Amino acid sequence: MLDLINVDYSTQIPNNVDLASDRQLLRALEKWHPGYIDWWKAMGPDGFQEQLVYLRTAVSVDPKGWAKFGYVKMPEYRWGILLAPQEEGRKVNFGQHMGEPAWQEIPGEYRAMLRRLVVIQGDTEPASVEQQRHLGKTAPSLYDMRNLFQVNVEEGRHLWAMVYLLHKYFGRDGREEADELLVRRSGDKDKPRMLGAFNEETPDWLSFFMFTFFTDRDGKMQLESLAQSGFDPLSRTCRFMLTEEAHHMFVGETGVGRTIQRTCEAMKAAGIEDPNDIARIRALGVIDLPTVQKKLNVHYPLTLDLFGAEISTNSANFYNAGLKGRFQETKIDDDHRLTNSTYPVLKMVDGKIAKVDEPALTALNMRLRDDYTEDCAKGVERWNKIIEKEGINFRLDLPHVAFNRRIGEFRNINATPAGILLSDTDWAKVRDDYLPSSSDGDFIASLMKPAYEPGQYASWIAPPRIGIDSKSGDFEYVKIAA
Ligand SMILES: [Fe+2]
Ligand SMILES: [Fe+2]
Repeated sequence: MLDLINVDYSTQIPNNVDLASDRQLLRALEKWHPGYIDWWKAMGPDGFQEQLVYLRTAVSVDPKGWAKFGYVKMPEYRWGILLAPQEEGRKVNFGQHMGEPAWQEIPGEYRAMLRRLVVIQGDTEPASVEQQRHLGKTAPSLYDMRNLFQVNVEEGRHLWAMVYLLHKYFGRDGREEADELLVRRSGDKDKPRMLGAFNEETPDWLSFFMFTFFTDRDGKMQLESLAQSGFDPLSRTCRFMLTEEAHHMFVGETGVGRTIQRTCEAMKAAGIEDPNDIARIRALGVIDLPTVQKKLNVHYPLTLDLFGAEISTNSANFYNAGLKGRFQETKIDDDHRLTNSTYPVLKMVDGKIAKVDEPALTALNMRLRDDYTEDCAKGVERWNKIIEKEGINFRLDLPHVAFNRRIGEFRNINATPAGILLSDTDWAKVRDDYLPSSSDGDFIASLMKPAYEPGQYASWIAPPRIGIDSKSGDFEYVKIAA
């Protein structure tokens, strides 16, 4: 019997979709493969391609045990195509086709819309690898370096996941889109990645941790709503991607948490109580908490922008068509059509920020964004617990949604993190209180010195409480002296 739980590693492209029986598709993917490897070598991690890295590889889609750990050189990583098991009798669970059997093939009228969704998701995956490619050189420990590379190879696998859908279901234009995914480059003037946050720099490790906390969490929200899709192969693909995504957010949350932990410990050891005594705190070789807040103030608004305009007919169409649902759609108790309901949206009304009830269908971006904010807020509270436990009088907060925005209702205004509107002149005076100045950036950069000895950690970050795969603190996660 065909095994669709465990992954077939006998083929060049590991998979649990019986690729071997679809010669045409297999050939198309084998043709795409060398371009992917070229992209990985050119745009994947800068250096360390010959080093052995202790990575997990998915060997199954069984939630109870899907990963296997072992040393591998990154270019030899077994990127594969993995779909969560098909659910018997699954239906379209929202929109105008609600109650119909989920589609195993793409309904012709939704082809263009679906292609757009798959391409936008696909484009973010290689983008983040490109953004993070130089970070290995300043890794604060081998543990962190390994986590970076794990995230990178899995984003590469997520690209494979979307490319599989493009090749299998979208014919010639799907193949062209798959090729384009290897051509665009994060931050490139002529061929940028599709979404703003994926063209920003990730200049240092604190940015990387903020990115994996915030931007990968946006990824989670997008995957969650695509996992609701009536197009079953997309749903199954996204469901398995979410399993991997959890680790990325773990890397972000614990990375920032360990940074905060170290700062608090160093302050206490030096007898510094005032978190704003920045010069003395920085002299300890740790990142002061107000600067951590400023970094958060950069990353959170950038990810809010990823949800698009608050009011969007596109997302209404995606929903109506049954292609992209809400976060935890099937757990929501309503009609799942939203034809008569409303949703409160923050907007600019007569020069003030006001809450306005909008048709729920066109406010779906806003709703997903609110669910995202709620998820973020829980993580920020866990960071605050660390600070509190250390007895330091400081709190991190998510800034107001009107702060520092480039897309949507608040893109043309200046607002403080508390949501107070300012003129251009007044904003210019306080800007550096809220966002990293160039000297803040220089200070963080000055701390980014690599720590490559097993068990060694850079001055600004605490060791993890437990290692990966239950390894000890001085485990050699990356064999640098190979
Ligand atoms: Fe991803
Ligand atoms: Fe991710």
